[in-house]
Amino acid sequence: MRKMNFLTLVVFTGILVATGAAIAQMTDKSFARGVVSADGAIRLPSNFRTDYVMLGAWSVAGDADTGGAVGLHVVYAPRSAVEGYRKTGKFPDGTVLVKELFKGKTETLTTGEATSAAGPAGHFVMVKDTKGRFPGNPLWGDGWGWAFFKPGETTKTATKDYKGECLACHEPVRSTDLVYDYAYPILKK
Ligand code: HEC
Repeated sequence: MRKMNFLTLVVFTGILVATGAAIAQMTDKSFARGVVSADGAIRLPSNFRTDYVMLGAWSVAGDADTGGAVGLHVVYAPRSAVEGYRKTGKFPDGTVLVKELFKGKTETLTTGEATSAAGPAGHFVMVKDTKGRFPGNPLWGDGWGWAFFKPGETTKTATKDYKGECLACHEPVRSTDLVYDYAYPILKK
């Protein structure tokens, strides 16, 4: 009888542990859902133009990214990320930042010399990871996942190693978590 009770206890504990692990896994599955796969692969979210909010935009003269005279960079994040930032001053775990690049078309309009978005020139994506989920994966580190997508590409990133391809240019804003956040009016209360 005592033996039986012990066995029941072992089985019961086993079930509890397994359930706990399953719940933990389910919770983490919601991490950047639809953008990051279980092995840390990053894709471009399909809905960022319609469902995210625009953080801000850059006009870049002599733009290296778009190879044009003037390029336009438009930056997006989910509304929940903006709300989190406005509360805590930090982007919450799972935040997805998308920077969309356009070759600019510059012409003289009634407003002056005006540049508008012409050809698409690719997308940069960053995903906030406060837990260091993908150690050893060269797209992840310094608190973020990093990936660039060529025009028309949504799943296969051109990025091999964020340390060589992204980090140096984001070092100037390390004190704001490697993001050029001063340029995004919506983050200010
Ligand atoms: C040549 C320098 C340079 C490189 C390389 C670079 N970035 Fe950036 N990135 C910037 C600058 C500067 C900004 C803000 C101003 C702009 O877009 O011109 C920026 C902005 C961003 C933004 C918008 C959020 C923010 O920080 O303001 C994302 C997302 C981003 N970069 C991702 C990446 C990823 C991912 C890589 C590597 C695949 C990368 N960047 C490589 C310089 C760079």
